[in-house]
Amino acid sequence: MHYPTAFLFLILVNGAQAFRICAFNAQRLTLAKVAREQVMDTLVRILARCDIMVLQEVVDSSGSAIPLLLRELNRFDASGPYSTLSSPQLGRSTYVETYVYFYRSHKTQVLSSYVYDDEDDVFAREPFVAQFSLPSDGPGVHGSPRSLGLAVLPSLVLVPLHTTPKAVEKELNALYDVFLKVSQHWQSKDVILLGDFNADCASLTKKRLDKLELRTEPGFHWVIADGEDTTVRASTHCAYDRIVLHGERCRSLLHTAAAFDFPTTFQLTEEEALNISDHYPVEVELKLSQAHNVQPLSLTVLLLLSLLSPQLCPAA
Ligand SMILES: *[C@@H]1O[C@H](CO)[C@@H](O)[C@H](O)[C@H]1NC(C)=O
Repeated sequence: MHYPTAFLFLILVNGAQAFRICAFNAQRLTLAKVAREQVMDTLVRILARCDIMVLQEVVDSSGSAIPLLLRELNRFDASGPYSTLSSPQLGRSTYVETYVYFYRSHKTQVLSSYVYDDEDDVFAREPFVAQFSLPSDGPGVHGSPRSLGLAVLPSLVLVPLHTTPKAVEKELNALYDVFLKVSQHWQSKDVILLGDFNADCASLTKKRLDKLELRTEPGFHWVIADGEDTTVRASTHCAYDRIVLHGERCRSLLHTAAAFDFPTTFQLTEEEALNISDHYPVEVELKLSQAHNVQPLSLTVLLLLSLLSPQLCPAA
């Protein structure tokens, strides 16, 4: 057995590919803002961590900020290419925001998307829901699980929400109805609700938080815990930004979840970081394992044999 072959098996057997899904309130993201070098640099490095990122509070009216950001991201990150999917501008007045998905198109694909039909106008910015398939069903890369033509999560639905601080409780209760409708619409139990929910501190007391249906109904896993700090300022400690998982399959793939303290990682002062956002991104990492599809035990034995017995590997 050749080492490259063994390596291929290693990918398949331990082929738990990490897949990271993120949400980030990028605080009033405009063209002028992304055009600043330090902002662009940091945003690109934040985006490149994620296989799917939902950017919120994009308020660019020029329509050029996201294409510019995408271009720089694809220049920076060789593991792309990334694609984007933007919602229409959403809001009740002249103040509007856009939700924008950035996703690695060779690792996942968008099957469909729509703006939630908010008949009673509960949401200031209606969820822009999207159905993804993981990994992508597109043409496979040699040795990756995709080349087997199997989707680990054939239907993963993302439901982003940026609540308005004035109506957090109302919007989060309505988010449960959104969950019911979209999971029925796509016949998918694997759903991730995510974004700046403003679900803490003055915007939502712990008592009210615990009464939400998304907390009391079974099956929802708040992977960004109540004690987390998703704010940049040292003077604030609030878990505004959240990720909530639903669905056995989705949950079984959960690896880690956390707020990403980008100022510390990128060695930015608080003041510098606040030029990017007053929020941290939140991230959840899934392990997309295909092991059960390729007889892992026998492959593991083969692999061990090949590694332990160099004489069996004449070509190595
Ligand atoms: C924040 O951005 C402004 C505008 O570009 C700039 O003048 C200022 O120096 C930046 N602050 C820090 C600490 O980088």
